[in-house]
Amino acid sequence: MSYVVLARKYRPQSFDSMTGQEHIVRTLTNAIAQGRVAHAYLFCGPRGVGKTTAARVLARALNCEHGPTATPCGVCQACRDIAAGVSLDVSEIDGASNNGVEDVRQIRERVTYLPQRERHKIYIIDEVHMLTTQAFNALLKTLEEPPEHVKFIFATTEPQKLPDTILSRCQRHNFRRIPAASMAKRLNEILTLENAHLSDRAVSLIVRQSEGGMRDALSMLDMVLSACGSSPSDEDVAEALGAIDRNAAQTLCGALIQRDAAAMLTQVEALYCRGVDFKRLFEELALQFRNLLVARSVSDPEARKAALGDLADSEREAAVEMSKNVDPAQLARLFDLVHGAVWDVSRAAQPRLAAEVALLKGIHLAPSQSVASAIARVEALTRQLTGPAVPGSSAVSPISAQARPFRPFH
Ligand SMILES: Nc1ncnc2c1ncn2[C@@H]1O[C@H](COP(=O)(O)OP(=O)(O)OP(=O)(O)O)[C@@H](O)[C@H]1O
Ligand SMILES: [Mg+2]
Ligand SMILES: [Zn+2]
Repeated sequence: MSYVVLARKYRPQSFDSMTGQEHIVRTLTNAIAQGRVAHAYLFCGPRGVGKTTAARVLARALNCEHGPTATPCGVCQACRDIAAGVSLDVSEIDGASNNGVEDVRQIRERVTYLPQRERHKIYIIDEVHMLTTQAFNALLKTLEEPPEHVKFIFATTEPQKLPDTILSRCQRHNFRRIPAASMAKRLNEILTLENAHLSDRAVSLIVRQSEGGMRDALSMLDMVLSACGSSPSDEDVAEALGAIDRNAAQTLCGALIQRDAAAMLTQVEALYCRGVDFKRLFEELALQFRNLLVARSVSDPEARKAALGDLADSEREAAVEMSKNVDPAQLARLFDLVHGAVWDVSRAAQPRLAAEVALLKGIHLAPSQSVASAIARVEALTRQLTGPAVPGSSAVSPISAQARPFRPFH
């Protein structure tokens, strides 16, 4: 049998097997139970988070021989035809390639006929924002008052490109990025079904790289399993994904905190040999210092878990352990330093040198509190000597000039 990619193999066939999107599943199942199904839906949201999947499940729910039901049987002719994409009454149309007024005209003509076998005629139009203005206009009338047996389900990643006239005629549902914990759980279930094993760190790396997109996460999993077999090490996974191995970044953080220049340089050398992108490395370091600072500052375990939601349990424990007894001000300043260096390192002619020097500065950071208070004293003295500061001149203290707004990295 030919190989089916994981994303296709594990496409949810029912509402309750969808990961995340609980708010949408709840609304749709209630609507079906109460017989209050709208005639046009618009599913919006980022790539690969379940829009098309939900559209197909909704089509099954409406047309299942035992329905309409929120739990389609999956075995009747209608359910099977819809899953296989061969139903005569459920049409999946790619809005990108069927975007003209002629295409819409065809739909308009066909909706007037009764369904051939199933209960409803359902039109799922993907990438609906690609329709031309004339096509949208041609659709308006039908969308306003379609025949009783017709349902429209539109999906798009770019709802802002849709005309208001269309938006106002649809019931809109916003799909969200899938939360890290739910996604990790789903990936682990799939790994078990595939007889494969990844550490929780490796899973969490995939989750983070996928930025909440399930299709992306599954494609990465496919790649990792085919590149490295069924139980790859964390380093293998990171390398297959071209990602920064978190353990390596953690070692670097440890070296900076301990002011251990030799350990730091050895690690940079190792990462350089592996062809790591230094900009990504610095982004990862900034993220790790943010996490260490959170671990150091939030003592309630539940609140800490929430604030460090992206981390696997073992990673969170490691962060707590590492941040113990470290001066929070030192962590904040290391964050400032690596965060500030991301841009410099990415632009440097020799990124490795720029990275090493930036990190050496981190090792030589003077104990922060004394510097801060020394600067404050110098400033106070300067003010006394020179009178009120001229606006826009030296009014900004070196400390606040260094501080940059925090942007989370992924
Ligand atoms: N919420 C989810 N729960 C479980 N699996 C999901 C979910 N969302 C996506 N997937 C997985 O990702 C694959 C692609 O999902 P889907 O086609 O529904 O994405 P989409 O939102 O329509 O994306 P696009 O905007 O790229 O069309 C599915 O086959 C499924 O394996
Ligand atoms: Mg889709
Ligand atoms: Zn059925």
